[in-house]
Amino acid sequence: MDKSYKRILITAALPYANGKIHLGHLAGAYLPADIYARYQRSKRRDVIFMCGSDEHGVPITITAENEKTTPQAIVDRYHAMNKAVFEKFGMSFDNYSRTSLPLHHQTAQEFFVKLHAAGILKEKVEKQLYDEKAGMFLPDRYVEGTCPSCSNLEARGDQCEKCGTFLNPLDLLNPKSKITGETPVVRETSHWYFPLGDYQKRLEEYIANRNEQEGWKENVLNYCRSWFNEGLQDRAVTRDLQWGVRVPLKGYEDKVLYVWFDAVLGYISSTKEWAQKQSNEKWKNYWLDDNTKYVAFIGKDNVVFHCIVFPAMLMAWNDNSNEKYVLPGNVPANEFLNFEGQKFSKSRGWGIDVDEFLEKYSPDSLRYALALNLPELRDSDFYWKDFQARHNNELADILGNYVNRVITFVHKNFNGKVPKLHQLSDLDNIFINELKQKSGIIGGLIERYKFREAVLETMNLARSANKYFNDSEPWKTHKQNPEQCTTTLNICLQAVRSLAVLFEPVLPFTTQRIKKILNIDNDKIDFSWDGAGNLELKEGHMLGNPEILFSKIEDEVIQKELDNLGAVSKPTALPVEELKPLISIDDFKKVDLRVATVLSCEKVAKSDKLLKLQVSIGLEQRQLVAGIAQHYKPEDLVGKKIIVVANLQPAKLMGNESKGMLLAASDTSGKLVFVTTSEDIADGAIVK
Ligand code: 2FM
Ligand code: ZN
Repeated sequence: MDKSYKRILITAALPYANGKIHLGHLAGAYLPADIYARYQRSKRRDVIFMCGSDEHGVPITITAENEKTTPQAIVDRYHAMNKAVFEKFGMSFDNYSRTSLPLHHQTAQEFFVKLHAAGILKEKVEKQLYDEKAGMFLPDRYVEGTCPSCSNLEARGDQCEKCGTFLNPLDLLNPKSKITGETPVVRETSHWYFPLGDYQKRLEEYIANRNEQEGWKENVLNYCRSWFNEGLQDRAVTRDLQWGVRVPLKGYEDKVLYVWFDAVLGYISSTKEWAQKQSNEKWKNYWLDDNTKYVAFIGKDNVVFHCIVFPAMLMAWNDNSNEKYVLPGNVPANEFLNFEGQKFSKSRGWGIDVDEFLEKYSPDSLRYALALNLPELRDSDFYWKDFQARHNNELADILGNYVNRVITFVHKNFNGKVPKLHQLSDLDNIFINELKQKSGIIGGLIERYKFREAVLETMNLARSANKYFNDSEPWKTHKQNPEQCTTTLNICLQAVRSLAVLFEPVLPFTTQRIKKILNIDNDKIDFSWDGAGNLELKEGHMLGNPEILFSKIEDEVIQKELDNLGAVSKPTALPVEELKPLISIDDFKKVDLRVATVLSCEKVAKSDKLLKLQVSIGLEQRQLVAGIAQHYKPEDLVGKKIIVVANLQPAKLMGNESKGMLLAASDTSGKLVFVTTSEDIADGAIVK
């Protein structure tokens, strides 16, 4: 770290209190932040680490509505859950706050008022959809309708998930309120905008002054550059909503601040809360002093808010106040973590519940496996087999085994006391040198946010320690050269302490156990990062009892985890309907089944169930009407091969003629799929 900084302020993205955090979150922002914070503490630097729950935003109100409860009840539940999981995982936050606290509301309102009073914010009147039955303006995600680009009937007000087009709710054709199902009307409403474009030049300079030497990631800088290339636009900072931080202005009583405007300020209010708990004003030392190095850990989806929006808000404040906030000095954003080759998906049961995971496996094993797979430069994956291999082959076989063999040897041969260091051999000197150099090497990697490499290097030290023990052959020298033997074991014990210091950022629980095993859990022996290579254990020091640090995870256990994967999405056996009475082959031959291609398809007006299809059955084109609208969208069928009962009496369904019937399979759960051909074959081909 640049020596000129006096303090380090670390923040990790405030997770939404609208769901449980998963492994992807831990790998994206939290584990790297925690490793960094623990390392900086071990360097004995003045550091604080802030986080908390992000408790506002529309998705929270939607969850509350779906569950017929209040947003406060939702955030209370997830705040408590996530806080507890973070503790189990070993996150060492100095404060874990929440944005529903009055202190946070005041902080965010103060920011708004300052920017408003300085004339920075602009008021604009705009048209927005209003639900007359619910008596409210509809946030983007509360509106659904037809996508103007791809005709998807269920496009959301902010984006069409089918074709990816970003939308404004007013773009939707046939919009419907998701609250009442009514067609909303267009009404005018006014909002305050932050003129991000006015800050573009300064933001470009701010980003241009960052570089990879400082540990800025190229990915992050590139995201920023692409935003600049597009040109920064005004951003609305208020919303027509009830849940959130009230806009402290006359005429705006019914509106709240946009969730991202208040969320980033949650870092400041969390620090204020931390200071309040100690009855001091120390939050100012960190936020309002340019001797602070501020590092904001996030996932890549949050880059624009932390590298552009938040710095611009702070610049705007600083221009108008004697209190000058420090801007992020680095924003080490990770890419995404996938799970067993696929994206995490709650609905498909694709993922791991962190809480359950930590009931069965040690947090340190998870931290270690995740650390070596952090998506630092590109997306990465968590695999159960990799987790097992890291735990068994590295934590148990290398680190655990080393500590165990050294401690048992000393108990067996030297009554559990640190033996004397005599004359050093070349082998001893080489290993001691390695011990001395490691803290600098690993620390340098952590300072540049290369956590994967740092943890790899730390395990390499454990590998070297095992090798040193083997090469020194103390079981032989014990008889043949006792002085060499005590020297070897003295150095081995020193290395156990070094490993405990250097592994602490990633394996905090194991470090505590090793300290107990070494009987140095009383703070009387230096445990700082810079002293990691020193030979601190004194001759005659009595050790604690040996302990197995990591027991192996059996193959069956991992297989069971794999078998359980996606259980939610696996089709479950359903009761099957009784068979019909037998028919003759001639009965069957009466049915003329043909292959057909769907040429076009549309919904039947005023019907929820019916689709009207134009199909080619080879000899001719036909119109079919099928009751499958709840299972397929029209565009799902166009171009598909289907099987048609071609000689069925024509019928009229809601005024539309249907000449034939499409074959589909359905089960007792109500699931329905149309029947198709396994390979391409000409229209009109006979099915028999
Ligand atoms: O993406 C998220 O989970 C956001 N809740 C992160 C907010 S970070 C900060 F602004 F609070
Ligand atoms: Zn679309």
